[in-house]
Amino acid sequence: MTSVAAGVTRNLSISQADGGRSKSEQRLIPISIMGKAYQVPADATIMGAIEYAGHQIVRGAGCREGYCGACATLYRLPGDYKIHTGLACMTMVEEGMTLAQIPYVPAEKSIYDIEELKPNVSAIQQMYPSVFRCVACNTCTKSCPQGLQVMDYVQAAKRGDIAAVMDLSFDCVVCGLCMLRCPAEITQPLMGIMAKRLYGRYLRKDSPELAERVKAVESGAYDAEYAKLMPMSREALSKLYYARDSE
Ligand code: SF4
Ligand code: SF4
Ligand code: FES
Repeated sequence: MTSVAAGVTRNLSISQADGGRSKSEQRLIPISIMGKAYQVPADATIMGAIEYAGHQIVRGAGCREGYCGACATLYRLPGDYKIHTGLACMTMVEEGMTLAQIPYVPAEKSIYDIEELKPNVSAIQQMYPSVFRCVACNTCTKSCPQGLQVMDYVQAAKRGDIAAVMDLSFDCVVCGLCMLRCPAEITQPLMGIMAKRLYGRYLRKDSPELAERVKAVESGAYDAEYAKLMPMSREALSKLYYARDSE
């Protein structure tokens, strides 16, 4: 096995990677993965194409469904000057795409005791003063694969509006792409996490429904259901999960 791109991926055989589909059934397109040319199925996600090309992803993959934020990717398209951003598990390949996986973005993480912070601008000033360097260029918003208004939550942080930061950053998957592209080198997702913690600790409204549900869990109301689920296979659980009623 050959290591590629500093441990992001390593080679595996094509037969493992293509899920058993016959190559003759697939339309192939040329793309470049980490600087090397490959022919991959036109209907593949970036993650699928990397595996089809013969690499096992050992860093930079988790849920494979757009939730964990582990699979950040940068890519360019032919004739387009822009650097695009996306999640490898959710972005389809395009002809001539040239891409690089970014499985980890180093970031300065503030360490704090939530009990010693107040849910206002003072917490931002103390723990994430970089926020005040924002030059309102909107690059973060344009980079966000979740479509979040990242610049707006940074502006809300500057005003000390913790509830707005929580709300606007709620669907952040911490892929790191916004902070990677920010010219002011702000750590937006980590600041967003702190705002969500502050909101949960100090600002959230009481939920009688939640209290009731916790009481029911603690009294064993769901023990029989858990006992049924625990021995089930991954396939059976997955079927059940996707068949559930969801809002
Ligand atoms: S990319 Fe950085 S500087 Fe630009 S708007 Fe976003 S937070 Fe502000
Ligand atoms: S806000 Fe930043 S870290 Fe969060 S999902 Fe968007 S780009 Fe990724
Ligand atoms: S692997 Fe989890 S978001 Fe792509």
